[in-house]
Amino acid sequence: MLSNVGKQLFFPKGLLTQGAEAKEKAHRFNATIGMASEKGKPMHLPSIMAPLKGLGAEEALTYAPSFGLMALRQAWREAIYKKNKSLKGREISLPIVTNALTHGLSVVSDMWVDPGDVIVLPDKMWGNYNMIFSVRRGAVIVTYPLFDGQGKFNLRGFEARIRSEAEGRKKIIVLLNFPNNPTGYAPTPGEADKIADILTRTAQTGTGVLAVTDDAYFGLFYDEDVLAESVFSRLCGRDPGLLAVKVDGVTKEDYVWGLRVGFVTYGASIQGDPKAVYDALERKTGGGVRGSISSVSHLSQELVLKSMQSGAYAEEKKGKFHIMKARALEVKKALSNPKYASKWEAYPFNSGYFACLKLKTVQAESLRVHLLDRYGVGVISLGRADLRIAFSCLEKEDIPEFFDIVYQGIRELEA
Ligand SMILES: Cc1ncc(COP(=O)(O)O)c(C=O)c1O
Repeated sequence: MLSNVGKQLFFPKGLLTQGAEAKEKAHRFNATIGMASEKGKPMHLPSIMAPLKGLGAEEALTYAPSFGLMALRQAWREAIYKKNKSLKGREISLPIVTNALTHGLSVVSDMWVDPGDVIVLPDKMWGNYNMIFSVRRGAVIVTYPLFDGQGKFNLRGFEARIRSEAEGRKKIIVLLNFPNNPTGYAPTPGEADKIADILTRTAQTGTGVLAVTDDAYFGLFYDEDVLAESVFSRLCGRDPGLLAVKVDGVTKEDYVWGLRVGFVTYGASIQGDPKAVYDALERKTGGGVRGSISSVSHLSQELVLKSMQSGAYAEEKKGKFHIMKARALEVKKALSNPKYASKWEAYPFNSGYFACLKLKTVQAESLRVHLLDRYGVGVISLGRADLRIAFSCLEKEDIPEFFDIVYQGIRELEA
């Protein structure tokens, strides 16, 4: 299923291997790598290190490997197993560190997408997929309606789309983004099982399936009945013709949007020892990183690693989760107000950063501009009638007022 680029990708040995070898053995002079040192330490400007209390220059300023820091890769793999209990007993690759999710998706796109390849996405999706898969790599994006009209994931529509696209094709690419941007929907365990069954059946009929999970908003699951795992865990080890690729990162999960640390991890069904296959996939992916950004910020990786290793990490995350959940529940409460029913219908949401409204009486873009100009309230308009609300940026106590302003804005536009 590799693209032509993916077939050619490799992890170059020359310079990097020589440098690594010298790091171990060159006890006298090491004149291999393109960095600079002074008195046995990385050369640095004190003004750069001054704000970085607690970190040495060797942790902050030196190059990290193209694959990412080994300790971080191992910690993230462990975390994936911990957060996805049903992965237990199934072997996944070591994650490759990328410059957050966008870059991870771009590397996946380089490695697996050829011009004309089909990529199946829901009709409600993050707009940047178009740039990453279609504009950059020439993929053909085909969509299915995300919801069935009854507040549930549209399994029928999904299956129909997968079936029709798989017919006569050697491979299809499916991108699953849960919690979904823009709607904030994640599937129930039953829905996730059925999604995995549909993709497994497709692989069994001879069409290779590359299933990419974009888990940007992973972990922010608010309802009791939502699957509190990635669909990745349902896809690993199912069929040799089905390769699951997990793209995730700390961007949204750990509230470090600008640090730019993400991961690409593979879950395959391999007869025998999977090590050789994972090693090859990791090397190709590492080559993709090497050829695009060379390596991810060492400083960022070190900060993430130190946070994950700190004894307070789990508690800190739990604290922020509860704040986000309280906001989500406040949004649900506000949306249940019957006076809003004539103005909009909320798409189902149970997770993530967003809620999304389908407007009934006015155009989304007109409303967006009106709310901004009249009330200083910013929202995102998507298409003709959809309004995306990042409740992640609203304090809980402001949420009722926020929706009242949206309502008022609609009434003014109607008048
Ligand atoms: C679904 C989805 N995937 C990926 C990203 C990009 O994440 P990153 O900032 O880590 O590149 C976003 C950001 O908005 C997103 O909504």
